[in-house]
Amino acid sequence: MRKSFITLFLGLAALNAIAAPATPDRRKMPRIVETALDFSLKQSLLMYDVVKDMPGALPNTAKNGELETSNSGGWTAGFFPGTLWYLYENSGREDVRAAAEAMTARMAPEQYNTNSHDVGFMIGCSYGNGFRLTGKEEYRNALINAAHSLATRFNPAVGCTRSWGSSPKRGWDFVVIIDNMMNLELLTVASALTGDPACREMAKTHANTTIRNHFRPDYSSFHVVNYNGKDGSVISRQTAQGLADDSSWARGQAWGLYGYTMMYRQTGEDRYLEQAVHIGQYLMNHPKLPKDKVPYWDFGAPASKTTPRDASAAAIMASAYIELSQFVEDGALSAKFLRLAEQILTSLSRKAYTAKLGKNAGYVLMHSTAHFPLGVYDAPLVYADYYYVEALMRYKRLLQGRPVVDACSAGVL
Ligand code: GLY
Repeated sequence: MRKSFITLFLGLAALNAIAAPATPDRRKMPRIVETALDFSLKQSLLMYDVVKDMPGALPNTAKNGELETSNSGGWTAGFFPGTLWYLYENSGREDVRAAAEAMTARMAPEQYNTNSHDVGFMIGCSYGNGFRLTGKEEYRNALINAAHSLATRFNPAVGCTRSWGSSPKRGWDFVVIIDNMMNLELLTVASALTGDPACREMAKTHANTTIRNHFRPDYSSFHVVNYNGKDGSVISRQTAQGLADDSSWARGQAWGLYGYTMMYRQTGEDRYLEQAVHIGQYLMNHPKLPKDKVPYWDFGAPASKTTPRDASAAAIMASAYIELSQFVEDGALSAKFLRLAEQILTSLSRKAYTAKLGKNAGYVLMHSTAHFPLGVYDAPLVYADYYYVEALMRYKRLLQGRPVVDACSAGVL
């Protein structure tokens, strides 16, 4: 009896911890940010100590508490090097720089990868941050090579870069996923580096096509748009990782928010800012956004204590909202966006989402959803950590009165 009472009590306490409303006090934010960055550094160095002796391995997630890695070709492979670069930027420590350089070097083959739309994540997060912080010629060249690899996937009839290959079984011809908005940054950076506008124009065309075809009237987005690769007409709109074709898969919404905010930064075109603001309002006002502002894995899933969250979507949103708040001229709206980012960062920095030192297979955050239909949820994810650390760094810059994103990653080198 006593045991079951204690079990029930502990169970409810855990659920309450995850559902607790984030009530951030802005005065506490500097301490929250410093503590979180300090912890992220310690935890990431513990992970590095393990990964450095695994030839070619790069962290991805964990299964049954054990670290799972991929080789450089995994879409998530560039995030750990990127996290280390942010942590080097924050700490200035030479051992952290050496770790970032070593992990980045493992990504080298991917600059020539023409089989993945994710080369933007892979090379942008690793070599991109490395170039931003060191200016190394080798890193600059890798960015340009990778952008040219990605550009081979652009189809002018569709006006997009291809995501996945065609699949007669699924009826897919030329498939584009909302996630692909994130890879456009690499194209814009390459144009800034070379002075050749071709890659940036592809990025703009992709972003414009995606505004036309991926979004619903309420500014939620479909995950997958299946195009006819010959004439660019839309064959179907579907999901692959979400609950249903017409639902709002949380990370997809976060990719869209971040992607259009980034495209406004990189091009200065108002239509991208307008799109980002609409997405930002859709998410912020969603009746199913939990009190702690860490979304359920899909906005169509039941709002219940047992529905898995996606801390990765929350981290991407926090980073995007911080930047978006700096672009929005309406002061009240800007303040709301920033407030939401603060609420997310506060929630993620609590023990409900932040792991204990040395636990969680070395990842910082718990409770992300990689692929619910395949059963990968309530997991740590390397990209949840990357965008969390990025958001912390952006918020820290804000506190210091600096631009939240470096000019050299803003396409204006
Ligand atoms: N880009 C793959 C994902 O977000 O899961």
